[in-house]
Amino acid sequence: KKVAILLSGGGSNMVKLVESMGPDHPARPVLVMSNDPQAGGLQKAAALGVATDAVDHRPFGKDRAAFEAALIEKLDAVQPDIICLAGFMRILTEGFIRHYEGRMLNIHPSLLPKYKGLHTHARALEAGDTEAGCSVHEVTAELDDGPILGQARVAILPGDTPETLAARVLVEEHKLYPAMLREFATRG
Ligand code: GRF
Repeated sequence: KKVAILLSGGGSNMVKLVESMGPDHPARPVLVMSNDPQAGGLQKAAALGVATDAVDHRPFGKDRAAFEAALIEKLDAVQPDIICLAGFMRILTEGFIRHYEGRMLNIHPSLLPKYKGLHTHARALEAGDTEAGCSVHEVTAELDDGPILGQARVAILPGDTPETLAARVLVEEHKLYPAMLREFATRG
């Protein structure tokens, strides 16, 4: 199975996904793509020997469909079986999602269905929750809403800030996402 990974930032999740796809794994990384040509994750992917590319979303302005058409052209050139969103921070339209329906995963830093969208850790702290976590789900047209493949939980500790909580959750993301990708790639 061929896996393409989309990211916008440092790509710590991408690194763990790529490192998890060893010779015994049913999948291999074929492309790491970003909407930001300067994304730190692109350098990390290249250092890991994975092909990289970028489509800067800014020249497209509000024309999401044109931006996504450019993404799809580059992605479909490598014919990915699975797309992993890993810290990809652009909203995808239904057209893009339908094109990859049933084979696109995302990691979201909350215990879905709680806290869809942004600032998940601050919202959990604000609500006085005692636990937080992350979820790997199939991407569907509704934001952060598709079938959940798995979740990991962490305790919220006294004195936690969004940053300390994010760091604790990220450790779990780095274990959960590779495990869920392996399961998903092993399915028929
Ligand atoms: C992480 O918090 C992840 O939950 C979210 O994007 C953030 C950065 O991820 N999806 P990465 O370090 O760029 O993989």
